[in-house]
Amino acid sequence: MDILNKISPFFIDNNQDLLKNKRVILRVDYNVPIKDNKTVLDSTRIINSLKTINFLLEQNNDIILLTHLGRPKTEEDKQKYTTKIIYNFIKENNLFNSSNFEFIEDIDTQIEYKGKNIYLVENVRFFNGETKNDLELAKKYANLGDIFVNDAFGSLHRVHSSVAGISNYLPTYFGLLVKEEIINLYKLLNPKKPYLIILGGAKVSDKLNLINNLLNKCDKMIITGAACLTLYKFLNFNIGKSFFEEINVSNLINNSSIILPTEFITTDDINNPNNKFKKNIKEINDNDIIVDALINEEIKNVILSANTIFWNGPTGIFEKGYNQGSLEIIKTLAESNAFKVIGGGDTVNFINTVPEYKSKIDFISTGGGATLEFLEKETLDALEYILNVKSNI
Ligand code: 3PG
Repeated sequence: MDILNKISPFFIDNNQDLLKNKRVILRVDYNVPIKDNKTVLDSTRIINSLKTINFLLEQNNDIILLTHLGRPKTEEDKQKYTTKIIYNFIKENNLFNSSNFEFIEDIDTQIEYKGKNIYLVENVRFFNGETKNDLELAKKYANLGDIFVNDAFGSLHRVHSSVAGISNYLPTYFGLLVKEEIINLYKLLNPKKPYLIILGGAKVSDKLNLINNLLNKCDKMIITGAACLTLYKFLNFNIGKSFFEEINVSNLINNSSIILPTEFITTDDINNPNNKFKKNIKEINDNDIIVDALINEEIKNVILSANTIFWNGPTGIFEKGYNQGSLEIIKTLAESNAFKVIGGGDTVNFINTVPEYKSKIDFISTGGGATLEFLEKETLDALEYILNVKSNI
């Protein structure tokens, strides 16, 4: 049975009668960018969880929110990654329609059912054992409520106590964000052809398995960003002082489905976006730093002739102002009639800088690694873990 059929019976809207007047533990992914250690820079993931939160409030449930924030390692990190920052942001912006909203620091707290109350627990990665899927810790989380709902799509590739282990101790369901993500990403598993994947970002090394796997599924793959410079360097092109990785990419070079940009933006001072030049890959000098990849006519035509498109990873360092290639992609996507999906933190951050194009995209995934892993494996590790627990009950 495929993943959509396996998970569908457990979506919360298919189990509405069981989700009334309960203390629902809701695992969300509020791993959001934080500004100056004190406020939320981009609230997309919080806003996207509101559908599930409002659904649960309408059934008169209390909600106990669990999330991680960042990858805390030291005691000092606790200041930086406390979910109190998120709590304050939600409170200041009045994002929840709850009767009451409280912060919980200690998971040994007993929560008495009141109805329509929301609690946000401290960063789950502050508790020992979370990332090792410690079941004693999972049991402690479970003691906070009566039912577990997982709506943390962006974390469903992590078999951790608050994502997966907790499902051993409570009736478990999936939220409306997970539903929306799976239904839309599932369409990429059965794409209308030609299927085009556009991959950008800095590194190719951590995506090699993914790229090899996706090459079997798509018709064309455009590799842009600094990732394509690794391929050019391997082909002995001069890429000046640009970032690249010294890895063997011969299988990618020899794959006829892969298309590389030929035109680039270069600079000799990355911090001065006014001092930039457009150059062909054959014109790069020793002192050039390539900061963006552009879309030539061939690439534009490939985009416009595709019927399904997935885009992950900007073409350049857009946060420093080098966004021309990414703008060219989004404008071309806007012209295309294909089914279009965008995924990955940086690409979503980019589209947030040009919100007028959001409506031209069929689906914007909230997942980073989870989205890519879903496309590669056609499932996710924590999802499989939970479904396995449920099939053994
Ligand atoms: C993400 O932002 O991709 C998820 O929240 C997972 O975060 P992690 O890679 O730190 O587990």
